[in-house]
Amino acid sequence: MENITLAVLGGTGKEGKGLAYRWAKAEYKVLIGSRINEKAKTAANDLNEMLGKELVKGLENINAAEKADILVLTVPYSAHKSTLESIKEAAQGKIFVDVTVPLVPPKVTKVQMPKAGSAAQEAQEILGENVNVVAAFQNISHEHLFDDHPVDCDVLVTGKGKAARLEVLKLVEAAGMKGWDAGVIENAAVVEGMTSLLIYINKQNMVKSAGIKITGV
Ligand SMILES: NC(=O)c1ccc[n+]([C@@H]2O[C@H](COP(=O)([O-])OP(=O)(O)OC[C@H]3O[C@@H](n4cnc5c(N)ncnc54)[C@H](OP(=O)(O)O)[C@@H]3O)[C@@H](O)[C@H]2O)c1
Repeated sequence: MENITLAVLGGTGKEGKGLAYRWAKAEYKVLIGSRINEKAKTAANDLNEMLGKELVKGLENINAAEKADILVLTVPYSAHKSTLESIKEAAQGKIFVDVTVPLVPPKVTKVQMPKAGSAAQEAQEILGENVNVVAAFQNISHEHLFDDHPVDCDVLVTGKGKAARLEVLKLVEAAGMKGWDAGVIENAAVVEGMTSLLIYINKQNMVKSAGIKITGV
């Protein structure tokens, strides 16, 4: 593991806390970000108890974003724009991993992409060209993240810049998952849209964590 600090913004929620747990287990320094300092600290304490070590710290989103090398965003789509605007300055020059899926409740099983093409492209527009937005983990159900079994779903990594995508593929591997370089940020639309399909398949089959796998390679 490299000496990298990760900030998981919105890391008090289901997906972010699970990813933070996996990266802390892989001995990354992890900062949980929240709108509320106390909430971040409580989530970090929960994880440290599970890990049996003090590996995670809780901070307000902006402070976590300032202190980290790589930022990861795990908030509902309704909070995407406002959270991006709040950490824009702190993100400059960094890799920004967007896990957001542009679900529009109540029709979460229907693909409803934003005007920019995808949530990741919106993030790139808001954060600007000096940030490498990389989209990943949008198809990984949080149900997988707190157990130690292999995750039966691949991670398609799309985003700005091959070097940034390769950095994020290291995070995928550290989290115990199989990742693929899936190309430019425009391709994020396919991966984000796939989440609605997986939610539909979950509902049809009364399961919680349908996934996808790349075959034939
Ligand atoms: N859950 C999954 O299985 C899953 C799988 C793949 C992708 N995703 C995507 O990952 C993202 C996070 O999902 P989640 O299930 O973890 O969400 P969540 O638990 O509902 O929320 C995550 C965190 O976002 C912050 N948040 C909530 N509402 C907000 C608001 N109005 N303004 C600002 N911040 C707000 C909260 O943090 P604070 O209150 O601490 O600020 C919350 O703990 C979503 O875009 C989702 O589509 C989720």
